[in-house]
Amino acid sequence: MFTKIQDAINQAKGKVKIHGWVYRERKQKDMIFLVMRDSTNIIQCVIKKDSISSKEWEDANKILIETSLEIEGEIKEDKRAPTGYEIQTNKLNIIQFADIFPINKDQSPELLLDYRHLWLRSRKLTAVLKIRSTIFFAIHNYFRNNGFYEFQSPIIQSTQCEGGSTLFNLDYFGKKLFLAQTWQLYAEPAIFALEKIYCIAPSFRAEKSKTPRHLTEYWHAEMEVAWANFDDIQNYGEGLIKFIVKEVLEKNREDLKILERDYKKLEPIIKKPFPRITYTDALKILKDKCKMKIDWGKDLRTIEEDKLSKLYDTPIIVTHYPKIVKAFYMKEDPKNSKVVFGCDFIAPDGYGEIIGGSEREPDPKKIVERLKDNGENPDNYKFYLDTRKYGSVPHGGFGMGVERIVSWICGLDNIKDAIPYPRTMLRYLP
Ligand code: 4AD
Ligand code: MG
Repeated sequence: MFTKIQDAINQAKGKVKIHGWVYRERKQKDMIFLVMRDSTNIIQCVIKKDSISSKEWEDANKILIETSLEIEGEIKEDKRAPTGYEIQTNKLNIIQFADIFPINKDQSPELLLDYRHLWLRSRKLTAVLKIRSTIFFAIHNYFRNNGFYEFQSPIIQSTQCEGGSTLFNLDYFGKKLFLAQTWQLYAEPAIFALEKIYCIAPSFRAEKSKTPRHLTEYWHAEMEVAWANFDDIQNYGEGLIKFIVKEVLEKNREDLKILERDYKKLEPIIKKPFPRITYTDALKILKDKCKMKIDWGKDLRTIEEDKLSKLYDTPIIVTHYPKIVKAFYMKEDPKNSKVVFGCDFIAPDGYGEIIGGSEREPDPKKIVERLKDNGENPDNYKFYLDTRKYGSVPHGGFGMGVERIVSWICGLDNIKDAIPYPRTMLRYLP
C-alpha cells in the first residue's frame, strides 16, 4: 500500500512507502537528494549510497526530473526540507526513467504553452487546477442547494445572441450555423417547464482581441429563473460568488499559498455586500475620483472598469446600462426607456467583468424592433419570440465566465492559465 505524500507528512514519523515523480534532483558523491511529488504535495527524499543496494544506487544515479518511482523509508521532521519533512530512503524502485524534461527554469510563457501537456504537472498549474475543480463543484452545489435543475442547450445554434462580431461560423452540411455564445435563447423557453435552471458548458467567442481576459472557448456558468426581477438576478449572482469564494478559502488555502495569492483580500468578499451602482453614477465616480470623462451612452471600456474596480475591495455590480450598448433581450426600464435592467459584475483588482446578466424584455414588439436595429431578421428568432406568447412571466438570468473567476481568485496574470488547454486566436495547440 502506498501513502500519498500529504498523508505521509501528516503521519510525521515511522515507515512510509510513496510513489510519484521526481520534481527536483541533486546528486552528490555518496548521497542523492530528490524532491518527489504526487498530486497532494512534495517531499524531500535522501538516498545514501550505503543504505541501498548497488543496483539501486546505479539506478538512482540515472534519475532525471519526472522519472516515476517508488520509495520506501523513514519519514522525519526536517525544518530545512521544502515541506518540513524528509524521507530517509532504504528501498527504491524505478517505474520509468524520464528523458531530459524540456521545461526548466525561467521559460517564456509561450514555451510553457507549447508544452502545456507537460506544464500541467507544475506546482502552479496543479494548484490552479485544484481550485478550478473546487469552483466547478461549488457552482453545482450553489444552484442545486437553491432548487435549480441542470439544463443543457445545443452548442450548434442558428442565431447570434451576444452580437454577430464574435460568432464562430460552422459549415453544417453546407448551411451556415454557429457555435454557442450562450445557452440563453434555448434556456428561456425551458423555464416554463422547470422554472429555475442552470448549466456549466463551453461557450465560444471569436474574439480577435489579445487581452489577458479573453478566450475563444471558455466555460460558461449560466442560470435562468422564472418569476424573478432584476434584484433577484443580482442577488443570485452575489450569492454564487460569495459561495464560491467561501468554498475555495475552506478547501484550497495551501493552493492559494503556492500561488502566492493574498487570501486576506478574498475574505471581505464573503462578508460585505457588493456595491450596486448605476451606470450613470459610475460615470460620475469615474469623473470625480479618477478624472476620467466618459460620454453618457458609451460602453465602459476595460480601462474604465479597472479604475472603477480598484476603488472597492469586493466585486461591484454596475446596473442600468444604456440600451444601445446592451443585448436586444434586456428589459427596458419602465421609468427610463434609455436604460435597461442589465448588469455587469466587475471583479476587484482589474479582473474585469465576471458576470453579465439581466431581467428579460417581456414585450415581443420591443424585442423585434431591437433585433431589426441590430440588423437581424426576426424570423430567425421565431422560436424565441414564442416564449413571449404563451403565458410569459417576469424572468431573468446571468452568465459567469468560469475562467474569469478562476483567474481572479487565483490572482493569475493571464486567463490562459485558468484553463487546462487555452484557446485564443493564436493559441490552439496542443
Ligand atoms: O456578458 P456575456 O456576453 O453574457 C451572456 O452571454 C448572457 N447571454 C448571459 C446570460 O444572461 N445567460 O457573457 C457572460 C460572461 C461575461 O461576464 C464574462 O465573464 C464571460 O461570460 N465571458 C468570457 N470569458 C472568457 N473569454 C471570453 N471571450 C468571454 N466573453 C464573455
Ligand atoms: Mg457582458
